[in-house]
Amino acid sequence: MPLPLTPPEVVERLRAAGCVFAEDEARLLVAATTTTTPAELADLLTRRVAGLPLEQLLGWADFCGLRITVRPGVFVPRRPTELLVRRAARLAAPGSVVLDVCCGSGAVGAALLASENSLQVYAVDIDPAATACARENLEDRGGQVFTGDLFSPLPRSLLGRVDVIVANAPYVPTDAIARMPPEARVHEARVALDGGAEGLEVQRRVVRAAPEWLVPGGHLLVETSAGQAPQTAAIFAGHGLTPRVAHSRALDATVVIGTSPA
Ligand SMILES: C[S@@+](CC[C@H](N)C(=O)[O-])C[C@H]1O[C@@H](n2cnc3c(N)ncnc32)[C@H](O)[C@@H]1O
Repeated sequence: MPLPLTPPEVVERLRAAGCVFAEDEARLLVAATTTTTPAELADLLTRRVAGLPLEQLLGWADFCGLRITVRPGVFVPRRPTELLVRRAARLAAPGSVVLDVCCGSGAVGAALLASENSLQVYAVDIDPAATACARENLEDRGGQVFTGDLFSPLPRSLLGRVDVIVANAPYVPTDAIARMPPEARVHEARVALDGGAEGLEVQRRVVRAAPEWLVPGGHLLVETSAGQAPQTAAIFAGHGLTPRVAHSRALDATVVIGTSPA
């Protein structure tokens, strides 16, 4: 049986592997293994040093103060996406119908339900591994999860009845994926990252389809990058949605918000 690693040894190995928040990560890894064997901590550490995202190893990510289940291969919800949640929460009244398109782990819909439990949240993703997580994160809170391409698996009864659509669709330009850290490039599904040549292809499809699902005066919110925001906003305008751009310097986040005609 190997000797148990001490917390300072864990910190040292993480730091040597280039982990910026080595102390915090060590605390979480040690806490995750207190009831298991020393070999399991060593195994977690080896996989973290090899580049597996911490959240996929722990099985959860902290998002908007919630513990969101995340499985291997599934996109880890990021802090900037909290801006999408905050802006959508402002626009969703109690009882509103909300669609979370490209939901991944379901983090955005789960955070919205945590802020207002009367929302009717429907979430969809093309990746079955992601929707398996989304079910764990959403169904206990009353959300419904569908697997398929964008809006296609959603009940047609929702057409024209949706108050708020949120989408953190993939928006990384294909060429830029090679420059992403291995945590994303290797350990998150390509379909979660690749937004096509300019990064706008999936967004464009979301914006094109959204108006027929929205109530008059309903809202579409799409996370994007600061550099892409003018193009994203132009796509909104081209499909009859009046756009405005919200930035958060603290979160390093940008969201385009479009409103359909009343
Ligand atoms: C950037 S991740 C965001 C996930 C989640 N919304 C979040 O913020 O944590 C993009 C997600 O879009 C999904 N996706 C990509 N293309 C899709 C499509 N055509 N239809 C539905 N989901 C899609 C991916 O599987 C991935 O889970």
